[in-house]
Amino acid sequence: MSKKICILNGSPRQNGNTKALINNFIKGTEEAGNEVICFDLQKMDIHGCLGCCSGGKDISSPCVQKDDMEKIYPAYMKADIIVLASPMYYWGISGQLKCAFDRLFAVAELDPGYANPVKDCILLMAAEGDTEDNFAPVKAFYKGLIHNLGWNDLGIVYAGGNMDAGSILNKPEQLKAAEELGRSIS
Ligand SMILES: Cc1cc2nc3c(=O)[nH]c(=O)nc-3n(C[C@H](O)[C@H](O)[C@H](O)COP(=O)(O)O)c2cc1C
Repeated sequence: MSKKICILNGSPRQNGNTKALINNFIKGTEEAGNEVICFDLQKMDIHGCLGCCSGGKDISSPCVQKDDMEKIYPAYMKADIIVLASPMYYWGISGQLKCAFDRLFAVAELDPGYANPVKDCILLMAAEGDTEDNFAPVKAFYKGLIHNLGWNDLGIVYAGGNMDAGSILNKPEQLKAAEELGRSIS
C-alpha cells in the first residue's frame, strides 16, 4: 500500500550532500508508489520552541507561534513515515532540524497524556567523518529519540566522507543506498 512520507530537510545547502541523499531517496520511493512531501527548513520561517506548554488546543494550528510550522503540522499528522535528513553538525543533527522537531511537541499536546502520533522513521545524514565512532553520538540520539517516541526505525543512510557540497556525487554507493531505502518502502 502507498505510504505518505514527510521529509524534514535540515541542510541549509540546497545543492549539498543531504539534498542529494533526499533526491535519490525520493526517486526510489516514488517509483515504489509512495507519496512524498519534502520541507526545506532553511527556506522556512521557523522559530525555536518557547517551552510555554500552551499548545495543542487547535488541531488545525496546534502551536501558539504562528509561523511556517503551520505548513508542516498537517503533513506531519498525515504522514506514515517521517524522514529526518540532516548534515552532521557537531556530532548531532543541524539546528534547523532540531528547531523544527522541537516544535512538533505542539502536536503531542493535542493529547491529554502528551502521546505522540506513532510513526515510522528514517535518518538520512551526510558528514565529513566516515567512521562508526564519528557517527556514534548522533546514532545514539536518533535511536533514543525514536525509542522514547515509540516510533519504528525503517533505516539509516549515513553518508560519511563528504565535506564539500556535492562531493557525494562521486560516491554512487551512498546515493544508491538512499534510493534503495526509498524503494524498499511499500
Ligand atoms: C557547522 C558545521 C559542523 C559540522 N560538524 C561536523 C561533525 O561534527 N562531524 C562531521 O563528520 N562533519 C561535520 N561537518 C561537515 C558536514 O557534516 C558535511 O560537510 C556535510 O556533507 C554537509 O552536508 P550538506 O552538504 O548537506 O550541507 C560540519 C559542518 C559544519 C558546517
